[in-house]
Amino acid sequence: MEATDRASHGAHETTKAALTATDGAAEGTGAGDQFDFIVVSNRLPVDRCSADETGCEDGWRRSPGGLVTALAPMMTKTDGAWVGWHGAPDETVKPFSHGGIDLVPVQLSTEDIELFYEGFSNATLWPLYHDVIAPPEFHRAWWDSYRKVNRRFADATIRHAAEGATVWVQDYQLQLVPKMLREARPDLKIGFFNHIPFPPPEIFAQLPWRRAIIDGLLGADLVGFQRSSDAGNFMRSARRFLGASVKQQQVHVRGADGEPTHIARAQAFPISIDVKQISELAKKPEVIERAQQIRRDLGNPKTILLGVDRLDYTKGIRHRLKAYEELLQDGKVTVEDATLIQVASPSRERVEQYRLLREEVEGTVGHINGTFDTMESTAVRYLHHSYPIEEMVALYLAADVMLVTALRDGMNLVAKEYVTARTNNDGALVLSEFAGAADQLKQALLMNPHDIDGLKDTIMRAVNIQPAEASRRMRAMRKQILDHDVDLWSSDFLAALAEKVIRDDS
Ligand code: G6P
Repeated sequence: MEATDRASHGAHETTKAALTATDGAAEGTGAGDQFDFIVVSNRLPVDRCSADETGCEDGWRRSPGGLVTALAPMMTKTDGAWVGWHGAPDETVKPFSHGGIDLVPVQLSTEDIELFYEGFSNATLWPLYHDVIAPPEFHRAWWDSYRKVNRRFADATIRHAAEGATVWVQDYQLQLVPKMLREARPDLKIGFFNHIPFPPPEIFAQLPWRRAIIDGLLGADLVGFQRSSDAGNFMRSARRFLGASVKQQQVHVRGADGEPTHIARAQAFPISIDVKQISELAKKPEVIERAQQIRRDLGNPKTILLGVDRLDYTKGIRHRLKAYEELLQDGKVTVEDATLIQVASPSRERVEQYRLLREEVEGTVGHINGTFDTMESTAVRYLHHSYPIEEMVALYLAADVMLVTALRDGMNLVAKEYVTARTNNDGALVLSEFAGAADQLKQALLMNPHDIDGLKDTIMRAVNIQPAEASRRMRAMRKQILDHDVDLWSSDFLAALAEKVIRDDS
């Protein structure tokens, strides 16, 4: 395996000569440019767009999300670049800059998308890392593709990293990249952050390639996780499957020749959101007016409950619908009094488990509405769309109760966005204890979504919460988030990565 890895390294799959200009791509980054700071993620922080869409510049638009906001200042300050897939299958795009960020696109073929992205990343690792809520599939051809594509990302990074550069690799799609970088470029400072949970060794054990994944991650100087339990799970797997000797969440890593190469550390860095952006939007008169309009359009019910998720089986949407349906059946809520808005943004639609989930959720919504709707009122307003952040904040302002019922979630930023948008300190957050956000938002109404009776009780507590209690809880949660925004997350991680680690060989 190692020999194959090395053979493909050097035979770059996208050489400078092969890079072709793309219509409309702004010139800027040369294919040979080198950078002192590189972020590597499966997706680049831009999407294709057409000229008439708002925010579209030269055929690209910055994708929403705190990660890019947090890293953009760092990118400009330190001569940085971002390496990632540009989202268009089979298209080669040469490096370009957009909104002041230098971007190095990595090409994915239709076959790579099927085997590496939909296959190994999202039908093997995603369910395995989320408590096997859906059964993971193990296919050798997917694994081969995962290695090949990870090598391509590593090669692009190696070409663009200046001597001694800091490289920060993001998420489960790229777990082999840290070791590939370490072998080719021992001069680099290498960080990795896993945005999703890391499973306990008893579950991780199922993965036929478990040793290679741990080995890949241990190529980093610092491996960051959302929760300290994830960091603990990772180190337990390192001990169990590689025989690593772990002391204080550190491993002394040796190269193929047995010589020590570096110390790999694991630590929790809970990610957050762009607090400033959400707070400012929540105060804009047009956003506040839009929230009122949403309420009017729904017939001004006493209570609006809200769910906002990617349509993913980890989010507990079925559990939420079940609980709500039973509350309607029991007469605890009526459609005149309460409406559930469920935004389910389309996701990974060619993966079987996601197709099945969509059928099930839409069937259930149809059943609930068919049973409980009246001419004037609807039980569930279901929206299979993505919305711009302005509309999301209007929804947060319109909702009395936010339902985050994930069965397993690395963090859940929707919970943090809702709390941040509630500048009046009202509203209630029902939050699954299986979401990473539960570690920070301890004053949420926490519950176990598998316990449908418990979930129903918690929803009713939220619906009937007294203003003083709501305000006390919301204030405490808002303080936590306002003090820990996504800028602090990235600066904490990078400061820890830059720290000199003292060797303790005792
Ligand atoms: C999660 C993952 C991200 C991923 C996102 C959207 O948040 O941690 O790495 O980008 O989902 O999923 P997608 O498959 O569309 O990139």
